[in-house]
Amino acid sequence: MISEKMQEALNEQVNKEFYSAYMYLAMSAYSNTIGLPGFANWMRMQYEEEIMHVTKMYDYIQDQGGVVTLKAIEQPPLEYGTPVEVFEQTLEHEQYVTSLIHKLMDLAVQEKDYATQTFLQWYVTEQVEEEANVNDILSPLRMVGEDKGGLMMIDQQLNGRAAPAPLPA
Ligand code: FEO
Repeated sequence: MISEKMQEALNEQVNKEFYSAYMYLAMSAYSNTIGLPGFANWMRMQYEEEIMHVTKMYDYIQDQGGVVTLKAIEQPPLEYGTPVEVFEQTLEHEQYVTSLIHKLMDLAVQEKDYATQTFLQWYVTEQVEEEANVNDILSPLRMVGEDKGGLMMIDQQLNGRAAPAPLPA
């Protein structure tokens, strides 16, 4: 069982995770538009990852006897600038999501909601991984800048990103 307050906060996060998915899909489309299919693939896989984050939280709310409330999803930007700027905005966004997860954890601690603390721990760890993955791409990307050969190489690497493993049943 979760409190009304916790339920509302988790529903809000479901919306933020949906927005993340929506934004990465927009980034995928944008990457294709600027001729970077590998970037587009990476963003498409990130979209799928975010849908997994949504689904996990959606299931948890219901497992706890709560009510899921799906809210309107904000429209993401259509354009994201240079390839470096695309990933700078990705990092900024993930840092923002990390701060939201930490606020949720603060609430769960304040409410002595041990089950939700355990549940959220997965997201805390996931955010460390998400930020690290983006930083690993940003470093070489900043080095190559607008160099076409370097960009092509990074694009090929990003094309290799596979779909996330499905959640256990
Ligand atoms: Fe769901 Fe990228 O955090």
